[in-house]
Amino acid sequence: MAVTKSPQEGKLSGEVFYPSPEVVAQANVKDPEAARKEANENLESYWARRANELEWFQKWDKVLDESNKPFYKWFVGGKTNIVLNAIDRHVKTWRRNKLAFIWEGEKGEVRTMSYHALAREVCKFANVLKSMGVTKGDRVTIYMPRILETVVAMLATAKIGAVHSVVYGGFSVEALHGRIEDSESKVIITADGGNMNGKIVELKKIVDEALRRTAAPENVVVIKHTGKEVNMEPGRDFWYHELMTLPLTRNNQRCETEVMDAEDPLYILYTSGTTGKPKAVVHTHGGYQVGVYSTFKDVFDIKEEDRWWCTADPGWVTGHSYIVYAPLIAGATSIIYEGAPTYPYPDRWWGIIEKYGVSVLYTTPTAIRGLMRFGSAWPNRHDLSSLRLLGSVGEPINPEAWRWFHKYIGKERCPIMDTWWQTETGMFMIAPMPADPLKPGSGTRPYPGVEVDVVNEEGKSVKAGEEGFLVLKKPWPAMLRTIYKDPDRYVSTYWSKYPGMYLAGDSARKDEDGYFWIIGRVDDVIKVSGYRLGTAELESALVSHASVAEAAVIGLPHEIKGIAIHAYVILKAGIEGNEKLAEELKQHMSHEVGPIAKPEKIEFVATLPKTRSGKIMRRVLKARAQGMSEGDLTTLEE
Ligand code: WT7
Repeated sequence: MAVTKSPQEGKLSGEVFYPSPEVVAQANVKDPEAARKEANENLESYWARRANELEWFQKWDKVLDESNKPFYKWFVGGKTNIVLNAIDRHVKTWRRNKLAFIWEGEKGEVRTMSYHALAREVCKFANVLKSMGVTKGDRVTIYMPRILETVVAMLATAKIGAVHSVVYGGFSVEALHGRIEDSESKVIITADGGNMNGKIVELKKIVDEALRRTAAPENVVVIKHTGKEVNMEPGRDFWYHELMTLPLTRNNQRCETEVMDAEDPLYILYTSGTTGKPKAVVHTHGGYQVGVYSTFKDVFDIKEEDRWWCTADPGWVTGHSYIVYAPLIAGATSIIYEGAPTYPYPDRWWGIIEKYGVSVLYTTPTAIRGLMRFGSAWPNRHDLSSLRLLGSVGEPINPEAWRWFHKYIGKERCPIMDTWWQTETGMFMIAPMPADPLKPGSGTRPYPGVEVDVVNEEGKSVKAGEEGFLVLKKPWPAMLRTIYKDPDRYVSTYWSKYPGMYLAGDSARKDEDGYFWIIGRVDDVIKVSGYRLGTAELESALVSHASVAEAAVIGLPHEIKGIAIHAYVILKAGIEGNEKLAEELKQHMSHEVGPIAKPEKIEFVATLPKTRSGKIMRRVLKARAQGMSEGDLTTLEE
């Protein structure tokens, strides 16, 4: 790393990478410290300034309403629609001719979409949804591969004021069924399949199976993408391309953007919690657009000329915030790649960066570790000189992966923005800006206006260097507003342990320079390859197999995935545990929850450690598996 002069130089401890003068000179935020200070001094005026960078049908009366904590409200009285900022305002300017998306399929097909074309598609599809009776507030489930129609479907839903519920295309039957049922969606949007690793993921087949387990929604819209033959239920299932060329939509390329209250829901997104019951967080139009836009602009320093590539799937919050909404609001050009990073060779991503001249790349530690193992010869075959900034998200990045990413992809030129946030937070909470000094493995400092702390069991701040619970002490505009249909759970999950503080569910440390280091989840959530899965959801999927009586899952360290699932299974009487059954259970998990939920290892056991009240003591299983002391086991029954 080119060590350069920086005002903080020599003042920070540990391994520090200072930004080069070129990076600072062109940064959107040249003095991150001043921005943090501005927001600390007056949170509301800071966010009002950022909100004023966007368009509103009508400006707010009050920036933040704290009268009914923890049900905070932002931009109260404001009227907007995120689509007004993501599309409508751009097509009135030269940006109508700018590419919103460059898409590449796994087989190498390329499609591009300008802001103008995106606007047309969204209007047409919005009219299709309206023709199916979808109105303001109705839910629409989107279960799709990584294609442009996913984005069109989300925006069309938002445009008419309906609420999207995107279910990750890597989830399978039971996970999808639970999410469709809980959301009471009127329409499901899916595809005849997705391409992944040279194979077709049969999404429509999974939808059919999920719908057999639930009261069917009124309509299913199917995008023809892979060409694979699928079952079409007459009167229920419709082809997207046919709907989009019906006289109704062909002649109707206009659709008014619904005027929404700032606090009206934009989407729900299911995420794993500590119980098996589906839990969807609710995000809104007003505050969310301000939060994702400003974090994107400042942290990823987006410029008009950039080509932004977030490798996530639109089905996760990363995709919602930083593939769909923030980049569009910022008027950026995004790359979307449908397939696997190693298909057909482990240089697919590096080839994409070279081909499209990607300038900012945002990805995950798992992906970096996975590609790193193939060696630097693969990235070295490509010209990666278009890159100027890198990003990481989803799980702690180990310093070894950080250094490899920095050296072989960023060529020691590109700062790495390690962004800590959650489905619930909607936007980055702890993240550097390019002008900040970096420490490999740390998300650095809070974003302006965000107050982060590490506290002990009693809620008192711990000393620098000590581990504790990560909490957020001030509201932020993109925060979740509630849990869908379950406000009590919103309060009890996030706001009850420490009054006035949001409990993130992570353990962390803050060092003497105020840099935050995330250690991992402290609840019953496992981060597999950065994907969030709940132990309860996984265990209930195991128990749904005819041979299984009881099950417990834990996460154990894994070289590439970060954490991998280990399952302990008690079989029903008379059933013998063997290799074949273990394999069958892995397949069962893949079929019910999704391939990411496939356990690394299944162990058949006779008993499970439990408390007197019958709660499985996962920490005992974990300690045993890692050959560590089992700690205080006095509450153990067996
Ligand atoms: C959990 C949230 C945020 C979008 C994707 C994940 C972990 C997230 C980081 C990071 C260390 C991280 C935390 C957090 N996490 N980003 N940069 N460093 N850990 O969203 O699925 O809601 O998961 O992911 O454990 O609580 P999510």
